[in-house]
Amino acid sequence: MTTVLAIDQGTSGTKALVVDDSDRVLGVAELPVRPRYLPGGGVEQDPRELLDSVLETGRRAVREAGAPIDCVTLANQGETVLAWDPASGEPLTPAIVWQDRRSAQICTEREEWAELVGRRTGLVLDPYFSAPKMRWIRDRLTGDGVVTTSDSWLLHRLTGEFVTDAATASRSLITDLDTGEWSPDLLEVFGLADEALPRIAACDEIVGQTTAFGAPAAVGGLVVDQQAALLAQRCLTPGSAKCTFGTGAFLLANMGTVPVRSGSGLASSVAWRLRGETSYCLDGQVPTAASAVRWLQDLGLVDGAPELDRVAAPDAGGVLCVPALAGLSAPWWAPEATAAFTGMTLSTTSGHLVKAVLDGIAAQVAELADCTARDTGTTPSTLRVDGGLTRSRVLMQAVADLLQARVEVYPSEHATALGAVAFARSAMDPALPTADAIVDWTPSTGYAPRIGADEAAAFRARWTAAVENSAIGKEKQ
Ligand code: G3P
Repeated sequence: MTTVLAIDQGTSGTKALVVDDSDRVLGVAELPVRPRYLPGGGVEQDPRELLDSVLETGRRAVREAGAPIDCVTLANQGETVLAWDPASGEPLTPAIVWQDRRSAQICTEREEWAELVGRRTGLVLDPYFSAPKMRWIRDRLTGDGVVTTSDSWLLHRLTGEFVTDAATASRSLITDLDTGEWSPDLLEVFGLADEALPRIAACDEIVGQTTAFGAPAAVGGLVVDQQAALLAQRCLTPGSAKCTFGTGAFLLANMGTVPVRSGSGLASSVAWRLRGETSYCLDGQVPTAASAVRWLQDLGLVDGAPELDRVAAPDAGGVLCVPALAGLSAPWWAPEATAAFTGMTLSTTSGHLVKAVLDGIAAQVAELADCTARDTGTTPSTLRVDGGLTRSRVLMQAVADLLQARVEVYPSEHATALGAVAFARSAMDPALPTADAIVDWTPSTGYAPRIGADEAAAFRARWTAAVENSAIGKEKQ
């Protein structure tokens, strides 16, 4: 029996899952991590809190499982970066979270290279990705140590190795999508040519060993959290897509083994490198999903995500919300965009505002699904979804309504961790076919559209106009 400890180190929390060969969960532990929100679009985390949460959840899950583990796998946030000292392993800066927009100016200053960056990486010159934040750390915080994504630091602390994986590297703006290697030209563009960079490993590679969770265990199966969920959802064929509703909402479509570029404003990156073969995906992002709900909670409008459906009014009472609390990503790429509510009157209630935020998230997902359909040439009749916010029936219904497609909910709340387990299984057993490493699933719940196509189109036209009429929409015209 191979027992895997999967660690999903996400933006709002860290989850550890111990599973056996048949994906039976033997132990689970979860701890929240709370980012700090700063003026000017700053979003930071304490790296020690990330590491402590990895160690603590991992140890708790292993204790609960009561069985030694064979392999530790890590899913990471993708584009969160920090500087750290490779000699001591100590962090030198806060972790600058993927939502942080303070490096927007660094992108603006490099506008002349935007076309090259897009062509070479499949991404968009935007502060969401890693390199502008790496440059920002170098300019504003420290020139010392190494500057990497959070996975490399955590893996160094666990194994002593200096490594990242092909999917995480592809989110950086400094890798060549076609070769999967660091790009010397782009390193020059961001002034990072002299940096020591981690080795780029395959997602199914054993990269080292750790004793952090008890007896020595292999460490392997490294990937971005979104890509882990893509694998868990069995999106193995070109065009198959999923949307994970976590801190943000991320719609990813498998694009097979050809490194395509999006014609619709989506990002293109590595889905995974498995069995020596690289698969690619397109992705679109809603930067604030659970983050927007947490904001509602901080304002006192809801007590927490479980309360959403109780508080949300049956309709938004004419209120429209563009929930761009951390800018807009695909397909607008407007990091400076801010959130907007329109249509409020004296009769507007907190229930209307909550419903408007959920509708705004759903409208963004519908835009991303349209972009994906244009790029893949297929309009799927269902969307597979996972993540904590799928517990909101109101949100899921709004997604089905605005997509005019059926929404199918992954039956476990652990999609990302289970995807990471599949990468670990592949790493432990190179003979195992990829599909056999992933648990098969049937949806726990489904949502069919309850409004007609005309009503959905009318809402989306009004919502798109709200985006265009917002300050940033005008600025971009
Ligand atoms: O690109 C950022 C994304 O991968 C973060 O995911 O689960 O931490 O919201 P999550």
